[in-house]
Amino acid sequence: MLAVDITSFAFAFNRTLGLLEKHERLHKMRRTLIGLQLGKKLNLSENEQKKIFLYSLINNLQNELSAQIAEIIFIAGKVAEFLRGRNVCIFTKNKMKRYFLNEYLSVFPKTPAVLVLFELMEEDAFWFNLEEDFLFLDILKLAMGWNDLLILTEPEIKKVFGLLTRLIDGKDISTRMHSERVALIALKIGEELKIPAETLKIIEIAGLLHDIGKVAIPAKILNKPGKLSENEFLLVKSHPFYTYKLFEMVRGLEEAAKWAGYHHEKLDGSGYPFKIKKEGLDLEARIIQVADITAALTEDRSYRNSLKKEQVVSILRSESRNNKIDSDIAELTIKLLLEGRI
Ligand SMILES: [Fe+2]
Ligand SMILES: [Fe+2]
Repeated sequence: MLAVDITSFAFAFNRTLGLLEKHERLHKMRRTLIGLQLGKKLNLSENEQKKIFLYSLINNLQNELSAQIAEIIFIAGKVAEFLRGRNVCIFTKNKMKRYFLNEYLSVFPKTPAVLVLFELMEEDAFWFNLEEDFLFLDILKLAMGWNDLLILTEPEIKKVFGLLTRLIDGKDISTRMHSERVALIALKIGEELKIPAETLKIIEIAGLLHDIGKVAIPAKILNKPGKLSENEFLLVKSHPFYTYKLFEMVRGLEEAAKWAGYHHEKLDGSGYPFKIKKEGLDLEARIIQVADITAALTEDRSYRNSLKKEQVVSILRSESRNNKIDSDIAELTIKLLLEGRI
């Protein structure tokens, strides 16, 4: 089990979303706030509210939830969908009430959650709270009341961070699935090194998150077919910095933030963006580094096909000879590669 501080996770998530397109962010935040308000009015437990919080910030997770929580997120999503592209939420009040009375209830049952939604829709404050300026603060205020850490089970960790990863793999077409491969290769290396299972979980998260900072870079640059200009390259190189910044404050993910944020550093200090040398790079960070290089070389890019194993081996060896990456990890990775295990 991994314990993550829910409030700081919310901050990190919000910052990540803040780097995305505005309407998507607004939609997710509205869904979350409405869901939380419904949950509160229905006197759901703190744990159930956390589920609403977590799952409504992220898409497509409904199938593992209890029927009631899934319903709450569904309803909240409907309301948020209605508000897409409209700037004064309360102007849609009557239209939305009609929609829920006529269309929604002709398909779905009149459950306690629906009744509570009707109550909420009568409060002007409910609509004002959905305006952009207050959204995040209100979500936070509700989440602040939760004092303990959110304990994530293993499948939840995989889902939450896997989906977070897709935010970036979806934006950068050339690296689709890249993050998952980095996580997988890093795990294999970690297992070979007999790293304890609890640490492996954090390594996996760091692998999934390592390129998340790319959300801060325009897709136009990430997917540019030709050569990047000097300034464009500077922007691309900012991504590990953002990865680090996004997660450094999340209690429970401090190490993952470091290991992920340092993936472009080099042992001799010639990497970026922090120029950290070998002494400052934990074993786990060095694993992510090698896993990232190995994954990148064995994937197709717009400007080249994936490299042959022999080429990958020779690049890894030259990097380790030049004191860029850890030589033991490099050799171990080469072994795994040649045995067809990664
Ligand atoms: Fe990267
Ligand atoms: Fe990467």
